[in-house]
Amino acid sequence: MRDGIIVAAPCKINLHLHIFDRRSDGFHDLESVFQALSFGDVLRFDSLKRRSACDLLMEGPVPPEHNIIRKAVDAFRSRTGFDGGVRIEAEKRVPLGAGLGGGSSDAASTLLALDSMAGTGLGAEGLAPIAEALGSDVPFFLYGGTALVGGRGERVEPVESVVNYAVVLVNPGFRSDTGAAFSALDRLRASSSAGIAVPLGGAALAAALRLPVGSWPFSNDFLSVLTSVAGEEAGVYARMLAALKDAGADFASLSGSGSTCFGVFSDPEKAEWAAKKLSVAWKFVQKALPLARSGDAGLE
Ligand code: C5P
Repeated sequence: MRDGIIVAAPCKINLHLHIFDRRSDGFHDLESVFQALSFGDVLRFDSLKRRSACDLLMEGPVPPEHNIIRKAVDAFRSRTGFDGGVRIEAEKRVPLGAGLGGGSSDAASTLLALDSMAGTGLGAEGLAPIAEALGSDVPFFLYGGTALVGGRGERVEPVESVVNYAVVLVNPGFRSDTGAAFSALDRLRASSSAGIAVPLGGAALAAALRLPVGSWPFSNDFLSVLTSVAGEEAGVYARMLAALKDAGADFASLSGSGSTCFGVFSDPEKAEWAAKKLSVAWKFVQKALPLARSGDAGLE
């Protein structure tokens, strides 16, 4: 068994996120462009002599959200029969409930690391059914880079990455609950047809990635939901987006179902300056670069 594996678990943003109507199983089909970023958690895996042990270590108590790492280990064991003991040390950097896929990325990285440690050779395609059962965003992280994502998240079509820009993330310091955001979207749509974007289609999305950032036709359907709910948070989203635009972002949007907003800058130096400026007013500001998949010939 291989030992001492250190894996990066990148976060993601949704450059585009269109949500179709609620399905009969309660989930929603998506039309999305996912982009992995050079910012994320770091996980270290070591083997333990105790059979079937799973020691999970992180700074402070393990929050319930991180049961997803343990769930990934359990799911991998039942799929493969692997019963080696593992010690997992997680360095958490990505905020929780932030729309950045932190927990989902940790789960996918755990599956990939165990596949390597156990020598099971399943690879991304073999691990995909396990990933899908763990959460809608987990399959994407088996591939990373840039991908068109459909179904409830399980249809992942990697596309050539365009990486000639920089991203600045701004998180407001509160969490957004994904299930609640989907329910609010259903309610809003039942009462009004305002804010429903038209799906663009896979070919148009892939082509749009090649346009200058300022001409991207992308949007996020959750934005009209989160800016229309009662309470202070609605105004915070509007302020984050305005602050990113004021700081020079060529494109600004919401990631996932919130709470993080991001700005895309075609000039990386401008992004550096914007991150400094924004960190005066916002608690969590992070500059990052888009990641291409390793071996992706599309590196620019
Ligand atoms: O799959 P995941 O655990 O991330 O989903 C959390 C919740 O978000 C689901 O229970 C569902 O209510 C909602 N969801 C959805 N459609 C998706 C993904 C998530 O309705 N494509």
